[in-house]
Amino acid sequence: MSQIRLAIFISGRGSNMEAILDSCAKSDHPAEPVLIMSNRPDAEGLNTAAARGINAAAVDHKPFGKDREAFERAMHAHLTTANVELIALAGFMRILTPWFVEKWTGRLINIHPSLLPKYPGLKTHARALAAGDAEHGCSVHWVTEGVDQGAVIDQARIPILPEDTEETLRARVLEQEHTLYPRALRRACDELLLRN
Ligand code: GRF
Repeated sequence: MSQIRLAIFISGRGSNMEAILDSCAKSDHPAEPVLIMSNRPDAEGLNTAAARGINAAAVDHKPFGKDREAFERAMHAHLTTANVELIALAGFMRILTPWFVEKWTGRLINIHPSLLPKYPGLKTHARALAAGDAEHGCSVHWVTEGVDQGAVIDQARIPILPEDTEETLRARVLEQEHTLYPRALRRACDELLLRN
């Protein structure tokens, strides 16, 4: 059976990308990472990907100004050339337009650092602390037009400790992200294979 051709979108460090790459390196994995893309040419993760021998490309969003769709068309061209079948957003800090989301519906997943549907958007750790929540975590979900609104594939949760700060909580959630994302990606692949 041929593997699902996977692209990973990043904007920075790429630690979730690395966790996915580690997991995909296992011989029975249903996905093969074929392309790493960033909207920031200086994203650290691009170097990590290239060092691992994976095709890495940047499309700088800045020259496109407010024309988000033109930026996405440039990204899309890379995806088409690489015959990508599934995209994992991993710390990709651009909101995608309905044009792109529609093109990739059912083949586009994202990780978000909250227990969705709680806290879509930014500053999730600070918001969970401010609300006095007992627990926090992360979710991997299918991407739809509404930001952080699509169906959840899987979640990981941790207790919020009395001494937690935004930083300690972020670090503990990130640790969870690194096991959650590979696990959820496998589920997404299984779903995709069932559909095809
Ligand atoms: C992660 O916490 C992710 O959930 C958030 O941005 C961070 C990206 O980290 N959206 P990394 O680039 O994967 O290290």
